[in-house]
Amino acid sequence: MLDILIHSCQVIAPQSSRGPLKGEEMAELHVIENGAVGIKDGKIAFVGTAEEAAGLQAAEKIDASGKLLSPGLVDPHTHLVFGGSREHEMALKQQGVPYLDILAQGGGIHSTVRSTKQASHEDLYEKGFFHLNRCLSYGVTTMEVKSGYGLDRETELKQLETAVKLNENHPIDIVSTFLGAHAIPEEYRGRPEAFLEEMLTLLPEIKQRNLAEFVDIFCETGVFTVEQSKRYLEKAKAYGFGVKIHADEIDPLGGTEMACEIGAVSADHLVGASEEGVRMLGETDTIAVLLPGTTFYLNKDSFAPARSIIESGGAVALSTDFNPGSSPTENIQFIMTLAALKLKLKPEEIWNAVTVNAAHAIGRGETAGSLEIGRDADLVLWDAPNYHYIPYHYGVNHVNTVWKKGKKAAE
Ligand code: NIG
Ligand code: FE
Repeated sequence: MLDILIHSCQVIAPQSSRGPLKGEEMAELHVIENGAVGIKDGKIAFVGTAEEAAGLQAAEKIDASGKLLSPGLVDPHTHLVFGGSREHEMALKQQGVPYLDILAQGGGIHSTVRSTKQASHEDLYEKGFFHLNRCLSYGVTTMEVKSGYGLDRETELKQLETAVKLNENHPIDIVSTFLGAHAIPEEYRGRPEAFLEEMLTLLPEIKQRNLAEFVDIFCETGVFTVEQSKRYLEKAKAYGFGVKIHADEIDPLGGTEMACEIGAVSADHLVGASEEGVRMLGETDTIAVLLPGTTFYLNKDSFAPARSIIESGGAVALSTDFNPGSSPTENIQFIMTLAALKLKLKPEEIWNAVTVNAAHAIGRGETAGSLEIGRDADLVLWDAPNYHYIPYHYGVNHVNTVWKKGKKAAE
């Protein structure tokens, strides 16, 4: 006897692949046209056709004719815990002041650092909870959350502790990343190496208290060089962390190649990735996490070379990059539209990029992002007739119902 049976809808069914989907595999999406999914004790207990499900008993049967049912979406790159906001920078953006100039003048990330230092644990928790509810309402059931608005021991730990508490109390599963190396604070101006040494001293405590699984760094002009980033991430790996990198976001420095070389779990942004970087993504296990919402919001003309990455055999995941500066949005459905129009991804590739590959990009490939029997019943029912519809009809929320671990979490 099932708890819930959702039937007579298009279902995005599990992939057979055990790892991230790479290259041509990304265009394979397994769809059951007249499908059904059963839930029992918070787990997926049945996936098949509506005909096969017809004889099954269930406490609740939901006729989902004309709708789409997918795995809960996974957002693998966010800066969700922060104080304040940066709407005052909009006028500067309109005047064409570049993102890195605002940062160099003590605004941008530094402005959010000031607000985050002032915020209490409770302030950060309440604000984080509010944004998480919005992420959930758009269909996200698992996501990554970074620190990086403290740039000192106390505030970085405050952000990480907040993310842990949010994970305990909010339906969304959170995977945490330590991004202490997000900018060079005023007191370390001109001494990036000394600042990175200081951030490395936090790693034993973060590991011991299980405050983060990954370590990330902003490798960019005026922030950290490729060499500095490499040494830092290699040390983080030696402490047992998985590593990630903000690479080639604004200036093409070669962070993509370095990420592949050191075995980063993901390399993120990659707008300026070189041909060599693209080739290496095809040959290694590093996942390309692309963030077209950021490119859009930074008002750039050229987007990450998603097609070349896939053609070279690489694995692509998509994310909002939700943060108060370069991508203030929780709307991953809008990112799916940008991926179609600006990255030229096919609908099948887009769905794999926000489910299977996004889960692998944060170490959850075996538990999230696919409707496999025995996994947590994280599901989204969409007011959409088919999977092509979500990237197509843009700017609005198509979610009908979200289930997290078999419980209704949003509708
Ligand atoms: O992914 N580039 C660095 N970090 C974020 C932006 C952070 C901010 O502007 O507050 C990003 O774009
Ligand atoms: Fe980011």
